[in-house]
Amino acid sequence: MALWGGRFKEKASVQFKKFNDSLPVDYRMAVQDIVGSIAWAGALNQVGVLSDDEVARLESALLELKASVEENPKQILLSDAEDIHSWVEVQLIEKTGDLGKKLHTGRSRNDQVATDLKLWCKETGGELLIALVNLQQALMNLAERESNTVLPGYTHLQRAQPVTFGHWCLAYVEMFDRDIGRLKDSLYRLDVSPLGSGALAGTAYPIDRDKLAQNLGFRAATLNSLDAVSDRDHVIELLSTASISMMHLSRFAEDLIFYNSGEAGFVEMSDLVSSGSSLMPQKKNPDACELIRGKAGRVFGSLTGMLTTMKALALAYNKDMQEDKEGLFDALDTWQECMEMATLVVEGLKVNSARTLAAAQQGYANATELADYLVSKDIPFREAHHIVGEVVLAAIDKGVPLEDLTLTQLQAFSDKIEQDVYQHLSIESTLDKREALGGTSRSQVQKAIAQMQKGQTIQ
Ligand code: ARG
Repeated sequence: MALWGGRFKEKASVQFKKFNDSLPVDYRMAVQDIVGSIAWAGALNQVGVLSDDEVARLESALLELKASVEENPKQILLSDAEDIHSWVEVQLIEKTGDLGKKLHTGRSRNDQVATDLKLWCKETGGELLIALVNLQQALMNLAERESNTVLPGYTHLQRAQPVTFGHWCLAYVEMFDRDIGRLKDSLYRLDVSPLGSGALAGTAYPIDRDKLAQNLGFRAATLNSLDAVSDRDHVIELLSTASISMMHLSRFAEDLIFYNSGEAGFVEMSDLVSSGSSLMPQKKNPDACELIRGKAGRVFGSLTGMLTTMKALALAYNKDMQEDKEGLFDALDTWQECMEMATLVVEGLKVNSARTLAAAQQGYANATELADYLVSKDIPFREAHHIVGEVVLAAIDKGVPLEDLTLTQLQAFSDKIEQDVYQHLSIESTLDKREALGGTSRSQVQKAIAQMQKGQTIQ
């Protein structure tokens, strides 16, 4: 049964009905629609539209419906109702007869859907925050375990300077920390109730909208009914937060895919998150990470889709906006699943510290140290940089690392070089020197872990 038959002479075509219906997507907001309906019944009672007895009967029917939906949400999909709002109303009328028909007084599906979706976002946002924190925790545990493991650091995918594996882990903890900040921000901004805005002009009943918002757990009520029913900023903000975080996850995945490659051999992923090849028996592929990397694209797609849907849309509600949920639900599901998968990857990761150390020792990753050494001997950095460039060229020519050049060979480039140069060229000294805030020295990484564990972040 549709909620709006009176003005029509003919029934909608089957094809149009299928095109127009949103139940297969918005059934996920059933609980929110019921909770919103209970609050609305209370508000109608306050303004004398519903008696105490009526509101009590409606409430108990709605609570019964809520319990049934929580137990089996898929039952909703068997119905041919247009959307979740229609479904709840039809169920209510089935349970309470004519009384159920009173509930929609002064309310529109336009303020209803905006409210339901915000309630849904608030709840889902809580789960996403937990997934982010769990992933950070797994990375911090790995950072702790691998705080002494040397890893070649790259720029341009060329070995640049050594870092520790722990430092690499903490880089991602920082990124996910900013994601947490963005998520909390979006959740704060969306925490404003549109209920009582009517279709677009406001409700004709003297509802105390502040109280209604409070009853629903919102921090405030929206101030402009036109904006309230047509605002989907929160959908875009959440999609944008999810996109930025998926971008972080895709970089994390890409780093690990490279570290896991036969060529690098820095890490091995657990069997729990890898798969094999149907033809090549030796293969063990980093599928979890490849899928995380790939799924970033589809989350970005939802963001672009929603921005495009909302662009130049006239006030107030338009049916275009019904397109908001499919992309949002999919993007947030995907984001959450990817975070959970990344956590599993981190928890099962084996690091081959002999390989990472060997790689860090190659590629002249200590060239900056030699330049800094010359600076300590009063040579201006730019000049030191040039001298070391020449030393590197000579070492490449001889096929040896810098530390294998003899003192005489080194002194040919600068007479300031002395025996103590060799200790400056060691990986140990390279790491230990980077003690300033944010650096890769072991003591800094330990400090950073301790601070993060205590939740002391910049966010
Ligand atoms: N199903 C719609 C949506 O998701 C809500 C209904 C609003 N419909 C309307 N005719 N005003 O946006």
